[in-house]
Amino acid sequence: MTSLKAIVALAALGWSLSAAAGPLASPKRGLAFTPNDTTRVDDTIWITQPSCLTWYYNYKAEPEPTFSESFSQSEFEFVPMMWGAPEDASDTTFLETIKGLVKKGINITNVLSFNEPDGPWEWGGSDIEPAHAAKVWVSNLMPLQEMGIRVGLPATTGAPSGLVWLKSFLEECRKLVSTEKESRNCTYDFVTVHWYGNFEGLASHLGEYVATFPNKTVWVTEYNLAHASLAETQAFYNISAEYMDRLEEVERYSLFGAFRSDVSNVGPNAAMLTADGQLTDIGNWYLGRPAAGVNPESLGTRLSVAWVLGLLGVVVSLVA
Ligand SMILES: *[C@@H]1O[C@H](CO)[C@@H](O)[C@H](O)[C@H]1NC(C)=O
Ligand SMILES: *[C@@H]1O[C@H](CO)[C@@H](O)[C@H](O)[C@H]1NC(C)=O
Ligand SMILES: *[C@@H]1O[C@H](CO)[C@@H](O)[C@H](O)[C@H]1NC(C)=O
Ligand SMILES: *[C@@H]1O[C@H](CO)[C@@H](O)[C@H](O)[C@H]1NC(C)=O
Ligand SMILES: *[C@@H]1O[C@H](CO)[C@@H](O)[C@H](O)[C@H]1NC(C)=O
Repeated sequence: MTSLKAIVALAALGWSLSAAAGPLASPKRGLAFTPNDTTRVDDTIWITQPSCLTWYYNYKAEPEPTFSESFSQSEFEFVPMMWGAPEDASDTTFLETIKGLVKKGINITNVLSFNEPDGPWEWGGSDIEPAHAAKVWVSNLMPLQEMGIRVGLPATTGAPSGLVWLKSFLEECRKLVSTEKESRNCTYDFVTVHWYGNFEGLASHLGEYVATFPNKTVWVTEYNLAHASLAETQAFYNISAEYMDRLEEVERYSLFGAFRSDVSNVGPNAAMLTADGQLTDIGNWYLGRPAAGVNPESLGTRLSVAWVLGLLGVVVSLVA
C-alpha cells in the first residue's frame, strides 16, 4: 500500500515536473482541420480525450459531421469560414448557410472571413481585390454581425502585402458603408493573422498588428516554423505557445500542422502526425499531453516493431 502511494506520488511529481517544462494545455488552442481523403482514419485523433482543444475551423461554412455529432458548440466550437468571395458580390449563399446552421440550433458565435486574400491561387490564397471583398463583406458578413455573431477581419498572409491589403479593404468597406448604409460602420470583432517563420518574426508580426488594430484581440489561425530541424521546430513551438498563452491580445491560435509528416507542405517536422498517423511530440503537446518521444518522419509502430525485432536479433546473436 505504502509503496503504491509512493509510486503514485512519484508519478504525480514526474507529471508536474514535465508540465513545468513548458505549456501543455491552453484554452486558446484550436484545430485548423485539413483532412486528407486517403487518411480519414486520422480525423478522430483530434477529438480523442484528453485534449485541450476548444474550437476548430475547416476552411468551410459547414461543420465537420464527425465532430458535430460528438460535441456541442460549448464543448468544441465550430467556427465557419467564408474562404473566398463569390464572383457576384450580391450572392449570399454563405450568409444563408450560416443562418441555416443557427436555425438548426447550432450556436454560431464567431465567423472567419477570407483566407489569404492577398495571396495568389497557386499558393493557396483566395486572391480577392479589396474593393470586391468589401462588397462581399457588406452582403454576407455585416448581416451576421447584426445577428450578434462576431466576425474576424480577413486572414492575410504574413507578408508585408497583408497589412496593405487590409488597409485598402477597410477603406473600400467604409466608402461603401457610408454611401449605401448610412447608419452602419464597417466594424470587425477581431483580427486574424497567419505566420510562417521564426519566433522573433512571429512576435514582431503580432506587435505590428496589435499596434495597427488597437483594442482588438488577435486570432493566429495558421502559424509554424516551416522546413526547419526537429530541435528548432520544437523550440519554436514551445516558446510561441508560451508567448501566445501569456499575451492578452491573443484570443485564440491554431497551429498549421494537423496532418501527416509525409504530405506536409511546411516540412515534416512541423506536422503533428507521423507518416503513419501517430501524434508527434508537438502533436501531443498541442493537445495538452506529455510527449511520447516519436520522430515525425518515423513510421511509428511499424518502425519501432522493426527496431525491437532488430534489437532482439542482436541480443539473440550475442547470446548465441
Ligand atoms: C517543450 O515543452 C515540453 C513540454 O512541456 C518539454 O517536455 C520539452 O522539453 C520542451 N522542449 C523544448 C525544446 O523546449
Ligand atoms: C493526401 O494524401 C495522399 C497520400 O498520402 C497524398 O498523395 C496527397 O498529396 C495528400 N493530399 C494533400 C492535400 O496533402
Ligand atoms: C451561445 O454561445 C455563447 C458563447 O459561448 C453563450 O454566451 C450563449 O449563452 C450561447 N447561447 C445558447 C443559446 O446556448
Ligand atoms: C467609423 O469608423 C471609423 C474608423 O474607425 C471612424 O473614424 C468613424 O468615426 C466611424 N463612424 C461612425 C459613424 O461610427
Ligand atoms: C481602447 O480602449 C481604451 C479603454 O477602453 C480606450 O480608452 C481607448 O480610447 C481605446 N482606443 C481606441 C483606439 O479605440
